[in-house]
Amino acid sequence: MKHLLSTEGLDAASATAVLDTADELKRTLLGREVRKLPTLRGRTVVTLFYENSTRTRVSFEIAGKWMSADVVNVSASSSSVGKGESLRDTALTLAAAGADCVILRHPASGAAHRLADWLRDTGTSVVNAGDGTHEHPTQALLDAATLRERLGDLAGRRVAIVGDILHSRVARSNVHLLTTLGAEVTLVAPPTLLPVGVESWPVVVSHDLDSVLPASDAVMMLRVQAERMHGGFFPSAREYSIAYGLNETRARLLPEHAVVLHPGPMLRGMEIASAVADAPNAAITEQVRNGVHVRMAVLYHLLAGDGGDRD
Ligand code: CP
Repeated sequence: MKHLLSTEGLDAASATAVLDTADELKRTLLGREVRKLPTLRGRTVVTLFYENSTRTRVSFEIAGKWMSADVVNVSASSSSVGKGESLRDTALTLAAAGADCVILRHPASGAAHRLADWLRDTGTSVVNAGDGTHEHPTQALLDAATLRERLGDLAGRRVAIVGDILHSRVARSNVHLLTTLGAEVTLVAPPTLLPVGVESWPVVVSHDLDSVLPASDAVMMLRVQAERMHGGFFPSAREYSIAYGLNETRARLLPEHAVVLHPGPMLRGMEIASAVADAPNAAITEQVRNGVHVRMAVLYHLLAGDGGDRD
């Protein structure tokens, strides 16, 4: 694997290899006082973020450091991007400075693919850490890791993805990955928050959350992305919360074994009630924890290869 740009086209064997490596890394590090493996010593990983992030940026930094890579964080606001430097020139500068891997978050869909194209002669790997409304592949991988931990094999498992599908790169990456791994996905959203052409996706579409929950093994609540809704928010926050918020009454419709996920950041009280987000069947904190191991696994597969030393 040279780059990780999307889960679309990521085959089941490659995805499972990353998830298995993440499991192994998690087991290896469990209970250790010093969480440091020598695997990526001498390698340089650069995070290049043009949008805000807490989970993705921090967990990539921790993942790189736990594998002994040198990690450099670049944010658009404090770099020469602020002087007008293009993404292409910024990326070529980072590659020339010695980056073995650039982890990019960018508001434009397709930005990570463009970056990989510009860096094709450099040997630098690219990881898409979220591009516009397109994809967020490591989020889907950490979601799958969390679901596998709670539910076992995902083949035949029913996962409901709920909310702002239209603007959600998390939803797109999860649809690709979960269906590749054999899960059945139902998208639940108001018609205004579904993308054009969703009928051709390999999913069931519903507008009725209450009817979907009783048959779901997992429900993934999405963040409502007000910052991408330039024409305003319809339905209103109150209407949305009433019809699509996972409140305590609604959460009782889920089977006892069902898992509740949210990629974060959460709008508590609107997308999900605090009592539901903090309940034992919610795996939201575990998603963050697994994010570190999954991102370690991704860096391992990109930079160390299958013959690398993980001890
Ligand atoms: N889930 C996610 O991408 O969160 P951040 O924006 O905090 O990275």
